[in-house]
Amino acid sequence: MGRDVIIACDFASGQATLDFLSQFTDEKPFVKIGMELFYAEGPAIVRELKACGHKIFLDLKLHDIPNTVKKAMAVLSGLDVDICNLHAAGTIAMMEAAIEGLTRPDGTRPLLIAVTQLTSTDQERMENDLLIHAPIDEVVLHYARNAKKAGLDGVVCSPLEARKVHDACGTDFLTVTPGVRFADGDVGDQKRVTTPAKAKEIGSDYIVVGRPITAAADPVAAYRRCVAEFVG
Ligand code: C5P
Repeated sequence: MGRDVIIACDFASGQATLDFLSQFTDEKPFVKIGMELFYAEGPAIVRELKACGHKIFLDLKLHDIPNTVKKAMAVLSGLDVDICNLHAAGTIAMMEAAIEGLTRPDGTRPLLIAVTQLTSTDQERMENDLLIHAPIDEVVLHYARNAKKAGLDGVVCSPLEARKVHDACGTDFLTVTPGVRFADGDVGDQKRVTTPAKAKEIGSDYIVVGRPITAAADPVAAYRRCVAEFVG
């Protein structure tokens, strides 16, 4: 899969998601289904969007003992999603178990990427709450290297970290990056943002874009603008 724009479908119901996506008549965007929508609608919404022809990033961020994650991943691989994820903080053993669970009998599997440190975690919270004292940039790269060691395909990170991750883990190691805003758009609650064009320049493989598209007056035009800037 090449560079692409993933729309974060942060809607509370399947109907709201389907209504939103029905505006796209000429294209089938890659979509991200997060916890809110998955917990509301269950696997049915994944099957429905897949049947409509969308590629799916199922953003459930698993983090548990290796055996539990392995079994959960085996269930997710049956849903035929394109990308799923977990927390690198679950350790290399957990990530290896996840790959095992995700791999189907024929050897195929969805891409698996790791969350390093959430962008909502800053240096102070990491030190005080988690007792991790290394600089946060080092922690992010360390977790990315762990993910690579475990056989994962990439990480979720800030677009501003994409180049460093590629330098540390190779150009083939995927960087999937939220925190994207148009140069003339609202930043909202995101702290470290960049534009689709800049994300391309820094080397993101996929940008995850929510409100700049979902809350736009014309979501299809906003999506096309993202694609034009990012994919070119
Ligand atoms: O609306 P917005 O473009 O900010 O949406 C970004 C999406 O990416 C949301 O679904 C958010 O939960 C997700 N995300 C993020 N930062 C992370 C991980 C995921 O914004 N570090």
